[in-house]
Amino acid sequence: MESKPTPETIKTSQRVLTCPDQDQSFGKDPTKRRDSDNFVQEYVPGFVDKWDELIDWKRRAESEGDFFIQALKDRGCRKILDVACGTGFHSVRLRQAGFEVVSVDGSASMLAKAFNNGRKHGFILRTSLVDWRWLSRDIHDKFDAVICLGNSFTHLFKEHDRRKALAEFYAALRHDGILILDQRNYDGILDEGYSSQHKYYYCGGDVVAEPEHVDEGLARFRYAFPDGSEYFLNMFPLRKDYTVRLMHEVGFQQITTYADFQDDDKVDDPDFFIHVAEKDYSENPDRFVPNKREVSRADGI
Ligand SMILES: C[S@@+](CC[C@H](N)C(=O)[O-])C[C@H]1O[C@@H](n2cnc3c(N)ncnc32)[C@H](O)[C@@H]1O
Repeated sequence: MESKPTPETIKTSQRVLTCPDQDQSFGKDPTKRRDSDNFVQEYVPGFVDKWDELIDWKRRAESEGDFFIQALKDRGCRKILDVACGTGFHSVRLRQAGFEVVSVDGSASMLAKAFNNGRKHGFILRTSLVDWRWLSRDIHDKFDAVICLGNSFTHLFKEHDRRKALAEFYAALRHDGILILDQRNYDGILDEGYSSQHKYYYCGGDVVAEPEHVDEGLARFRYAFPDGSEYFLNMFPLRKDYTVRLMHEVGFQQITTYADFQDDDKVDDPDFFIHVAEKDYSENPDRFVPNKREVSRADGI
């Protein structure tokens, strides 16, 4: 039987985050919890134990195929920093494909699970407990690619935190490295309402993953499991153009966005977007022209 991590106190460079051992707690009004530190309390051991049931490694691997492996190989990447390794799905897949991988996450429970999953697959993952906002304090190496996958960036609620995290990712890259960062299609959810066929990412067939509350500053999702347990995540609903603009502003040059692993313009109402952002200097990067709504909204954050 796997041992569960005990509740513990995690010191980041600036603050102390406590990881509870029992239930999630969002207070009296869960919709008021809009904080970049929340994730530590959200990924309680019970939820982390269920995470692999939610994502279903086998079906997720089938649904995304070799997309990330190919994207990394095409750009000559060998050394990868997985900054939101979660339970280790992509770290293990990349190790299996022969990449050198360092796996980090800000949740001790997730990291412990990733390490155990790595061992089950015959790997000792090089894990490190790191908050993206202080990544360079603990990770001093340079990488060909930083991957931030599984809709993880959505956990940052303040624009200041998003900029800092992106700047840390940028700094961890070699001069011609790439960042691969994905996100849910929140534009679709905010503008048209939620619809998902669970084909990608959250592939567990018997698990319900649906929004309980959505507004411009919060997407609160409920994850219900066959044994009756349910967990929640409070996330910031990133609009696609806004994410791209932030990446440009911290210095990324060419940014290519894919929708559900295909060219962006080929998919109607995708579930997820994947951005591949290049650090290498470009004489003429695609100029980003934000639409009106995106500008006014981002300025208010
Ligand atoms: C939705 S999970 C995705 C996990 C994994 N990438 C996957 O696809 O299954 C988001 C992950 O991001 C991590 N995370 C969120 N905010 C973070 C932060 N500020 N620093 C480090 N990790 C963070 C969480 O602990 C969690 O493991």
